[in-house]
Amino acid sequence: MPSPAQSEAVPATPVHYARRGRVGVITVDNPPVNALGHGVRSGLAAALAAGLDDAESDMLLLVCTGRTFMAGADIREFGKPSAPPTLPELVARFDAATKPVIAVLHGSALGGGLELALACHVRVALTGARLGLPEVKLGLLPGAGGTQRLPRLVGAAKALDLILSGEPVGAEEALALGLVDAVEERGSPLEAGLCAAGRLAAEKRTPLPVSARNDRIAETDPALFIERRAELARRLPHLVSPHRIVDAVEAAVTLPFADGMARERALFRDCMDSPQRAGLIHAFFAEREVAKVPGLPAGTPTRDIREAGVVGAGTMGGGIAMCFANAGIPVTLLDLSQEALDRGIATIRRSYEASAGKGRLTLAQVGERMALIRPTLSHGDLAGADLVVEAAFESMAVKQAVFRKLDGVCKPGAILATNSSTLDVDAIAAATGRPQDVLGLHFFSPATIMRLLEVVRGAQTSDIVLATAMALARRIGKVGVAVGVCDGFVGNRILRQRGREAMALVEAGASPEQVDRVLTGFGFPLGHFAMTDLAGIDVGWRIREERRTAGDPEAEAPDWLDVLAERGRYGQKTGAGVYRYEPGSRKPLPDPELAALIAADRSRRGIAPRLVGDDEVRDRCLYVMVNEAAKILEEGIAARPVDIDAIWLHGYGFPSWRGGLLFWAEREGLGRIATAVQRYQRDIGGPQWCPSALLLKCAAAGRPIGC
Ligand code: 3HC
Repeated sequence: MPSPAQSEAVPATPVHYARRGRVGVITVDNPPVNALGHGVRSGLAAALAAGLDDAESDMLLLVCTGRTFMAGADIREFGKPSAPPTLPELVARFDAATKPVIAVLHGSALGGGLELALACHVRVALTGARLGLPEVKLGLLPGAGGTQRLPRLVGAAKALDLILSGEPVGAEEALALGLVDAVEERGSPLEAGLCAAGRLAAEKRTPLPVSARNDRIAETDPALFIERRAELARRLPHLVSPHRIVDAVEAAVTLPFADGMARERALFRDCMDSPQRAGLIHAFFAEREVAKVPGLPAGTPTRDIREAGVVGAGTMGGGIAMCFANAGIPVTLLDLSQEALDRGIATIRRSYEASAGKGRLTLAQVGERMALIRPTLSHGDLAGADLVVEAAFESMAVKQAVFRKLDGVCKPGAILATNSSTLDVDAIAAATGRPQDVLGLHFFSPATIMRLLEVVRGAQTSDIVLATAMALARRIGKVGVAVGVCDGFVGNRILRQRGREAMALVEAGASPEQVDRVLTGFGFPLGHFAMTDLAGIDVGWRIREERRTAGDPEAEAPDWLDVLAERGRYGQKTGAGVYRYEPGSRKPLPDPELAALIAADRSRRGIAPRLVGDDEVRDRCLYVMVNEAAKILEEGIAARPVDIDAIWLHGYGFPSWRGGLLFWAEREGLGRIATAVQRYQRDIGGPQWCPSALLLKCAAAGRPIGC
């Protein structure tokens, strides 16, 4: 670190010190998100020392360049030995600074970045800044004093809300909470900081460090912690870090600051050592990794999507139209009858109004979004769309007819996408004269909520169209994953095999409730059969019927699930499916009628039911998925294990703390899974247990799958 007088000669460090008048300015410049890696930490320590030694400065300013303040510790360093100064050491040095330090927050001030700011004497946020402690999402707790300082600023209850949710707050809310001292509407971080420095100089006082303030925690009711623990035990029994967070915040209000810090450290280490941390961090990077499609050169040009179209105003089409409107993209919604269109628009309006009722949207926003959705009965109104998503009935003949029509009315260069979940995208593209502009955009229901978007690349889909679709996914807040063409693509293809196995387990003697209990015990939010009820039994039934009619050799034989569909028991929407539902409730209740149906089905097949253990249910349901995933990799339908992980994480509720299907499989042991698959092939049979050659090969070689 140069002396202040030479501070223009910037060394090769991501942190610089310079003086503006009598204010020493510490600037962090470490793109893309100013993460607090080792270089930044040591640079900050040196810059702080230089600032404190600088006789010409009365106070210090901490600012960042680029799009954001520090977004936290450098996650890539986790799991490796931490080189000094560690983040807690650095934060302690700022806390003990003998000159006032002002932090100016813009962009995202998250995790360790916010913790460093909390150790400064004054915090100023620029309008638009987002402040939060998202460590819980990575299986951690704030480990650089966040659990001890935040309660001292905002009170223990609010601190628990913020740290347990991991959700950031905006600058205005941060001001109202007392998390920041001022919000600046204009100017750069440096300008805002210099203004704040001027104000502080005029006040002629040094604010007390947060660590020395106890007024907001003095009267904390101990019942707060009992209540939060009870709530967590009910809501998040699987997760380690939320429980540790409550312990740490409790320490903030019951122990002196230094002891609270020591407690936080110990609890942080517990979380750091937990496999959940590894899983959640894998999930964090997986979400970002899938955006980089192998073989698609970085910088591939994309087409502008200024206007979209959706064909089909049913549940899926309406939801897709809302995704566009939510991102500010005008969308034309087409259906064939006025009645269907009116129904679709009414459903959309109800959904937005429900969000407004919950305070998630203002009425003005409801109006703005509705105004972006233009209903029509005329295909001609799709002529200006840059991209049209078809969400019509799941039948090849219907889809091909729609695409033929779209090809005729849409402008050259418009991208035509199908939301089909099973059909051959290439056959659909063949109905047009522009197969290079056709692809699949497989949204998941409910489309506005589920983050997954399978971007299905047809044999002739161009790079530009694929790159445009991937960029669009990000723009509408989805996790886009590029996949190839096959029946069910990646997600549903794996789900189908799990479904086969779940049915086989019930046939053998397990109950649907047992299968679901084991899967929710593993961490899925819903069991297989509860999910079937939610999706609608009729949906799978129609697909199975179509496969049987088409003579698919792997089509499922008719079973008790088909009988349910024939009886109109479609699941939640009809109040009965595999389970029964009380009016207005989504809670699945066991149904004696179903037990009788299953018993009749077994006896028709001559099967004497046996006791099936929970371990067998777990292994068969999960290993069958891993086996299918390996086949998908083998065939190149998914390019990398991480793509399959992201698909199951964001589309099917695979527990994020387990990292993803294949990340979990590696930890379970590929050798163990491969041996079991071969045993099940022998003992149970069926296409689902035909072993993947890739799985066997990787297991035998002791190397990770896909490498
Ligand atoms: N460490 C290392 N790399 C990070 C990072 C971090 N904390 N945060 C983001 N990155 C990387 C991303 O992996 C991505 O890399 P890539 O371009 O090679 O894929 C790049 O920065 C840009 O990130 P995004 O694509 O996510 O950019 P966005 O603009 O969409 O989002 C963000 C920016 C809101 C800052 C988002 O990246 C984010 O939420 N980051 C994580 C923040 C976080 O969890 N902080 C807490 C860390 S744990 C901690 O601080 C422990 C402490 O308490 C001791």
